[in-house]
Amino acid sequence: MAGARWRVSGPSFFQASPEGAELLVETVRGALAGEMGAETVLADLYSGVGLFAGSLAASGRVVAVESASAAVADAAWNLPPQIETVLCAVERWPPQRCDVIVADPARRGLGPEAVGVVAATGASTVVLISCDAAAGARDVADLVGVGFAVDSVTVLDLFPQTAHVEIVSVLRR
Ligand SMILES: C[S@@+](CC[C@H](N)C(=O)[O-])C[C@H]1O[C@@H](n2cnc3c(N)ncnc32)[C@H](O)[C@@H]1O
Repeated sequence: MAGARWRVSGPSFFQASPEGAELLVETVRGALAGEMGAETVLADLYSGVGLFAGSLAASGRVVAVESASAAVADAAWNLPPQIETVLCAVERWPPQRCDVIVADPARRGLGPEAVGVVAATGASTVVLISCDAAAGARDVADLVGVGFAVDSVTVLDLFPQTAHVEIVSVLRR
């Protein structure tokens, strides 16, 4: 997937299909085209086994934050050592200065606490990946409430024949 092999232990989350994961990565890459410079600090929040941290070809500092210990262990195996993996709930993560955030929360979305953490990093760009449309809409509204503006919204039909979609929202200050 995305040109690499990924270790995914039984308890760890992974996208429903490699093709879907590939499309998600391509969509996020496209959204960040030209934005990932040598000094860019990237936070991959809800990082799972490190899918975005490992495939966005970021050359600056990268931190991956995830609350499931099995996924963090997989991420540490999947990612190069210079990428920091943090075992922590996003809402408890002490915010660090970032330029770009990729956030791919579980179905309940970010919620106000994690939105506060995102805002406190000072990031100028947030790519929010929402697998629940209602939670995603609420999170986007909360991010607008802390100073972001919606740049683009892309809906990916990653779960054909179901009511579920994946929504990639790009917000910028
Ligand atoms: C939709 S998955 C995305 C994983 C990864 N970005 C990917 O694409 O493979 C959401 C991830 O968030 C993790 N998670 C759930 N609640 C969390 C929280 N409060 N803080 C940090 N991670 C959390 C889950 O364990 C899961 O790995």
